[in-house]
Amino acid sequence: MKIKIENIKKTYGERTVLDIEELSVEEGSLLGVIGPNGAGKSTLLNIIAGIERQTEGKLYYGENRSETIPYREITMVFQSPYLLHTTAEKNIAYPLKLRGWQDAAINKRVEELTEELGLVRLRKQKAWTLSSGEMQKVALARALSFRPKLLLLDEPTANIDPATTGELERMMTKINEREGTTIIIITHNLSQAKRICQNTALLHNGKLVEEGPASVLLKQPKDPITQAFINGELLI
Ligand SMILES: Nc1ncnc2c1ncn2[C@@H]1O[C@H](COP(=O)(O)OP(=O)(O)OP(=O)(O)O)[C@@H](O)[C@H]1O
Ligand SMILES: [Mg+2]
Repeated sequence: MKIKIENIKKTYGERTVLDIEELSVEEGSLLGVIGPNGAGKSTLLNIIAGIERQTEGKLYYGENRSETIPYREITMVFQSPYLLHTTAEKNIAYPLKLRGWQDAAINKRVEELTEELGLVRLRKQKAWTLSSGEMQKVALARALSFRPKLLLLDEPTANIDPATTGELERMMTKINEREGTTIIIITHNLSQAKRICQNTALLHNGKLVEEGPASVLLKQPKDPITQAFINGELLI
């Protein structure tokens, strides 16, 4: 799903925490959002997800530039997954139940996802007894269950070991390539951004400093702020 942002601002009292003149995310692309703590990354994602509302500016969804937030086609995964107080498989099935899928179709989809993410033996386990990495896999499986058009990920692998991070990254790349799902991922892991993102955007103090192909921005950034950030020298 294509996203177009025009003159979005978010202010809290006197303070402007997000101020982006223009940002386009093309249909089927995989964009990485990077930047220091407090840069406004989560605020941006929450506004796109409709969890928060911008103070000013316009946000358009899809080719027809609709301003209505298409909640049923968007999903978000957070750094700490919040799972329902039930089994892993019921968590994954939940969005499908909400959408009125038949039991047989739900079962088939849950089977596919649990196989792809190595969750088969955990299907009946209670969500609160899973390890963090397992919880995050269940959260991703649940997010993917209904084949969203836009997947928003806010530091989804921040607490996850390298092997599980690799599995989650492969899943993200696969659904982006195979199903054309548009993905925006916030990450502090620049190697991760290099591995999976086509484009990268750097936010600093609420402003979009630089945006472009990940291969360029992460290796030969043009802006001095991006250069400092990549070199680990950027002070907030
Ligand atoms: N409800 C709020 N009231 C006041 N300020 C807020 C509120 N929510 C966020 N902010 C401020 O907005 C700024 C941007 O926050 P945001 O969570 O978007 O940063 P971030 O880039 O996601 O940072 P991090 O990498 O630490 O997650 C921060 O300085 C934060 O303190
Ligand atoms: Mg954040």
